[in-house]
This record gives sequence, C-alpha cells and structure tokens, in this order.
Amino acid sequence: MASSGASLWPIVGLLALAPGLLFLRTKRKPDEADIEEEEDAAPNDTIKVYFGSQTGTAESFAQIIAAEGRRHGFHIDVVDLEEFSASELLETGKAIFLMATYGDGEPTDNASDFTTWLKNESGELERDYLATVEFTVFGLGNTQYEHYNMVGKSTNEGMEKLGAQRMFEYGEGDDDNQLEEDFEAWREKMWMALVVRFGGKGGVDGVDKAVDLPFSVKMLTAAEAACHSGVSETAAASSSKFYWHGCDAPVVVNRELRAQAPGVGSTRHVEIDLQGTSVGYHTADNLAVLPLNDATTAEKLCAQLGYDPDSFFTLEHGDNHKPVFPTPCTVRDAFLRFMDIMAIPRRSLLEQLTPYVEDDAEREVMHLLSSKEGKEIYHREVEEPGWTLADLILERFSSLSMTLDHFLHVVPHLHPRYYTISSSSSVSPSRVHITVAVLEQDRSQGRLYRGICSSFLSSLEPHGGATAEGATVDGSGSKCRVFVRESTFRLPADSSIPIIMIGPGTGVAPMRALLQERAWQKEQGLSVGRNVLYFGCRCKDQDYIYRDELEAYQADGTLDSLRLAFSREGSSKVYVQHLLREDAAEMWGLLEGGAYVYVCGGTKMGTDVQNEFNHIAQSCGLMGVEESKEYMKGLHDAGRFVQELWS
Ligand SMILES: Cc1cc2nc3c(=O)[nH]c(=O)nc-3n(C[C@H](O)[C@H](O)[C@H](O)COP(=O)(O)OP(=O)(O)OC[C@H]3O[C@@H](n4cnc5c(N)ncnc54)[C@H](O)[C@@H]3O)c2cc1C
Ligand SMILES: Cc1cc2nc3c(=O)[nH]c(=O)nc-3n(C[C@H](O)[C@H](O)[C@H](O)COP(=O)(O)O)c2cc1C
Repeated sequence: MASSGASLWPIVGLLALAPGLLFLRTKRKPDEADIEEEEDAAPNDTIKVYFGSQTGTAESFAQIIAAEGRRHGFHIDVVDLEEFSASELLETGKAIFLMATYGDGEPTDNASDFTTWLKNESGELERDYLATVEFTVFGLGNTQYEHYNMVGKSTNEGMEKLGAQRMFEYGEGDDDNQLEEDFEAWREKMWMALVVRFGGKGGVDGVDKAVDLPFSVKMLTAAEAACHSGVSETAAASSSKFYWHGCDAPVVVNRELRAQAPGVGSTRHVEIDLQGTSVGYHTADNLAVLPLNDATTAEKLCAQLGYDPDSFFTLEHGDNHKPVFPTPCTVRDAFLRFMDIMAIPRRSLLEQLTPYVEDDAEREVMHLLSSKEGKEIYHREVEEPGWTLADLILERFSSLSMTLDHFLHVVPHLHPRYYTISSSSSVSPSRVHITVAVLEQDRSQGRLYRGICSSFLSSLEPHGGATAEGATVDGSGSKCRVFVRESTFRLPADSSIPIIMIGPGTGVAPMRALLQERAWQKEQGLSVGRNVLYFGCRCKDQDYIYRDELEAYQADGTLDSLRLAFSREGSSKVYVQHLLREDAAEMWGLLEGGAYVYVCGGTKMGTDVQNEFNHIAQSCGLMGVEESKEYMKGLHDAGRFVQELWS
C-alpha cells in the first residue's frame, strides 16, 4: 500500500551509521543444555502479569514481560483482567499490572470490573486484604488527555490501600511521546530489582525464537474444514472476543463529504444496513469496525513467507490457553482479518522477529533497529517514513523465515476501530451511519501511510437497491464486520433541557445524530430545548461537511444557533473555542439553566474547549480558578459535560 519511494536503506549504509553497534549480536537458537541451565536458575516464583487494554498495546507489553520474565527464570502467567480472580492473585502473591487508561480517564472495557473491585467502595474488603501480595504497576496513557494515566495511578493506589507490598516502583508511559522507551526503561530496572530480590538470571540479552507456543497449527483439507465444529466465542480469550462479536453487514451508502479537489483530503459518509443482523444501537453510540487488510499485500506476504493462502488450518491450544481468533479458516483469511500486517511495527515486534531473519546482514539490521542503541535509527528509518510490517518483510527483510504457527504467535492481531455513530436510532433504527476521516499521511522518504481502517472503509462498494431506511438490499457490494459499543453521549431525559454541541471536523458525527433525535422528538410533539452547535473546519468550500443538512436544520428551527469557525479563511485562524469566548454570556446562561454540553473530536481541541469553559465560569460566574475547575467537574460527574476525544 505504501509507495516505495527512491532507493532507500542500503543495509551496509545503515550499519555504517552506527559502526559501534556491529558488536550487537542476536542470540543463537537455544540448545537443550541452555534450557536445562535456565530451569536450574528458575527462582520458582510465579508472577501474574495482568493487562487492562483496549487497543492491544498493554496486551502486547504483557507478552514482552512474559518473554523476558521467562528468560530471567520466572514462571509467568499472563492474565486478561476480564478474567481476574482475587483468590488466584492471593495464591500467587506476585503481580505486575499493565494498565491503559481509556475514555475520559476510565478503565479499558476488560479492566472495568477489576477497577471497581479494587476501589472497594462498599468497604467489603479489609484494609490488609492484599497484605500477602507483592506488586508493581505500569500505566499506559497519553498526555494529550486531561486525566493522564488515571487508571495506572489508581491501580497503584488501590493496591496499596488494600495492604499490598510494592516489589518495584510505579512506572508510566506516554503514548504521545515514546511510550515504548518509557516502558523499556522501567522494565529494565524492574528486572534488575526482581532478580536481586527473588533470584533468577540477570543480564539476559537478545531474543530467541519463541518456545512453548500457546497453540499449534493443524492444516486441514477443505472437506475437513467444512465439517470442523469451529471455535465458539465462550471458549475464546477475552481480549479477542471481538472477532466473534461482529456481524457482516452490507454497506449501502459510501459517499464523499468534502469538496473533491487536490489536497482537500477525504471524509466519507458510510451507511451500513443492520437488517437481519443481531446488532442494534442507540443514537451516537460507537460502531466498532473490524477492518480487512489490503488483499494484494496479504497475498504477496503469504507468497513471500511460503504459505499457501488457500489452505485451511485450525489452531490447537494447550490446556491453559484459549483461542485467539476463530478457526478453521484459510491462511488468506487469517492474513486479511486477524493479523496486524499493515501497521508500523513497534521496536519490540522487530526484536521478536530478529531471530527468524536468516540472512546475517539483514538480521544485523533488524537487531540494530530493535535495540535500545538503535532507537534513533528506528525512528528515522521505520517510524517516520511509516514502513509497515508487510512492506518491511517484502522489501527489506526478505530472508525472514517462520513457520505459520510462529508468525501467528509473534505478530500482533488486528484490532477494531471505533466510529461515533452519526445517526439517530429513532429515525434510522436499522441503518447505522458513520462519518470517517480518511487518514493519509505523507511521510519521510517519499512514503505515504494509509490508515488501515479508514482506507478500508473508504474503499467499500455500496450495495444497490437500498435507497432508504428499511428498503431491501440487493445487488453486489461490500460487507463490513461491525458491532456496537455504548458511548457516553446520551440526551437529557427531559427533552426541554437545552444542549450545547461542540464538534469540529468529524467530531460533528454524534452532533448530527443528536440533532436527528431532537428533530424526531419535536415531531413526536415533545417540547425540545435550545440546540446550539459549534462546528469548525478549514474552509467553507472544502471541508464543511454536512453543510446542507446543518443549514436545513437551521432553516427549520431545529438548530437554534449554528456557529461556524473556519481556520483557513480570513486573516486569522478561528477555532470553536474562540466562538465560545465570544458567546461566553450566552453559554453561562445556558449552563446555569441546566444545559448539557457534548464535545467530540481531537484531544487538543477538547483541552482548549475545557479551558474555555473554565474561563467562562471564572468570567461570568465570578469564580476563582479552583472553583471553576470544581464547577466543571461537577458538570462532568453529573453527566452534563460529556467528551469523546481521540488523538
Ligand atoms: C471512541 C472513538 C470514536 C471515534 N470516532 C471517530 C469518528 O467518528 N470518525 C473518525 O474518522 N474517526 C473516529 N475515531 C478514530 C478512529 O477510530 C480511527 O482511529 C481512525 O479512523 C484511524 O484509524 P486507521 O485504522 O485508519 O489508522 P491507523 O492505521 O490505525 O493509524 C492511526 C495512526 O497511528 C499511527 N501509527 C500506526 N502504527 C504506529 C506505530 N507503531 N507507531 C507510531 N504511530 C503509529 C499512524 O501513523 C496513524 O497516525 C474514533 C476513535 C475513538 C476511540
Ligand atoms: C479513546 C481514547 C481515550 C483515551 N483516554 C485516555 C485518558 O483519559 N488518559 C490517558 O492517559 N490516556 C488515554 N488514552 C491513551 C491510551 O491509554 C494509550 O494510547 C494506551 O497506550 C492504549 O493502550 P491499549 O492499546 O492497551 O488500550 C486514550 C486513548 C483513546 C484511543
């Protein structure tokens, strides 16, 4: 998918950039003696590694800890927090928590029950309940969000409050800036501390080929695959249940919302027909989309690695392991649907792939890129140009050689992407609308990075026949695998309460849904409060998406106020927060009148808007800085200030 650009990366040249690094050698495959020696050194301690993860990063970090821990001689048990058991924690007595923060300072879906338990709000657990447990926590967060690493911090505090003993200091990483490096530095020190404390092997360096895979691949004939009972969702690992959740639903509309001119970019309005599926939704929920990788790339990669894309296989799991994706399937299916082959690989993934590179020079380069010493080179040569895993294997590391089971184990799995639904379930109950900004980034080395899911969605061909909600879908067209996740956008139960909506760019998606719902409420004869919308984009004639609809809502009185901020028109840049300041008195009046506020879009905009509301509370409500923050927190806690932000 990415363009190749000019002749890049001569391997020798790259090594010449860091001549002192040639001494870095990957480890050879361990022989029997090594394994026995490792077993002798084992400190006989089991450590549970718990992860709370939404998009897979904390989960992949847990696998890194597991691999390193085993090399240090520990028994490691990786546990999805959805499967947390207090008695198992007490029994094992040693725990490492890898906790991502999601939403607005909230736990990830799989950690939500655990964090509620740990809060111990009912006081059911005694203060020394975890006194026999030793623990440490690493938080994954992003400083662009207001509640930075909230869940890492609260897990750390919660464990202490229940009397657990610290075995290593709390650490955290910032996904906006070198998360991998933060994690690397933390875990390096952590292992030193744990080895000193519990015994085990220190100074372990380099990664071997994976041993003790949690599953093996069994190839099947087409006939065997057809009568294979398959793997049910109940048996699946919690962290990959989403592969079973989704329904394949036809795309019925896929149209461009921006002006079609060079350099303007693309935002797609996509409608998906849910008739006949088990998927239902509420206005402005999130639609999870399971993208497919590019078919040509998947095919080429199979050929390169020597796998027959048409052959069927199933995964056979050991006793303590659960299926990670549904089988039987073809190798092509696995490459299209389950393997994250078109993402930019993290350094830790390159590290795990290194022992599988057969050519010495190529292996040396991959080792350099994945090493701590080579991180600057990795940033410059892989991350900034946006080399995807598939392109790297196809164009730079053609000697990579792995059996299918190793590939399926080492390479991360594709995760769903979420889109805030832009339709009302009252108006459009069986047809869900989403608004998708297509991500295309010009990167260094003349390369182009295309967002996996947004470019997949933009490429889908709509089915014919379905001209309106409820119409029968016919003709050939694309299907898309989706499921619904609840969002925090809910209209006030009393429709007469005013609402303030702030949604620049694709952040307008839930506002469109809320407006449809408010218009519908009006049609039902309900008294509907004031609707105020702040929308922003670059130029009126380029990316003012849904212009016709918004202007029609303004004309028919559904929208009482439509405020537009254009950042590339006129001599100064105007953003939504500037308009809020102009309207401070009106905003304050609405807030004091009980209005609900909805904010959606980029994290930076969210911070600016939040600051502006603090400012409004200070200037119009005559509050001090702290008081204004408390006031806004009160609105937030009461569900009257709702934000959904993504970076
Ligand atoms: C709750 C929620 C609601 C959302 N609603 C909408 C919506 O209504 N409309 C909308 O358009 N979007 C929405 N999004 C964003 C959407 O989910 C996707 O994130 C977006 O479409 C990009 O996905 P992608 O697969 O196209 O890009 P990806 O391929 O996932 O790339 C995303 C970014 O990650 C970078 N990247 C990838 N791998 C690495 C790496 N290893 N290191 C560094 N950088 C890397 C890429 O360069 C790119 O900048 C929402 C997100 C959330 C969480
Ligand atoms: C929708 C969304 C909301 C987020 N909210 C927060 C937040 O409130 N605080 C924070 O520190 N990080 C937040 N993050 C950043 C994630 O915690 C960070 O990217 C982390 O690496 C994700 O880990 P995971 O892939 O294991 O889920 C958010 C990320 C997303 C996509």
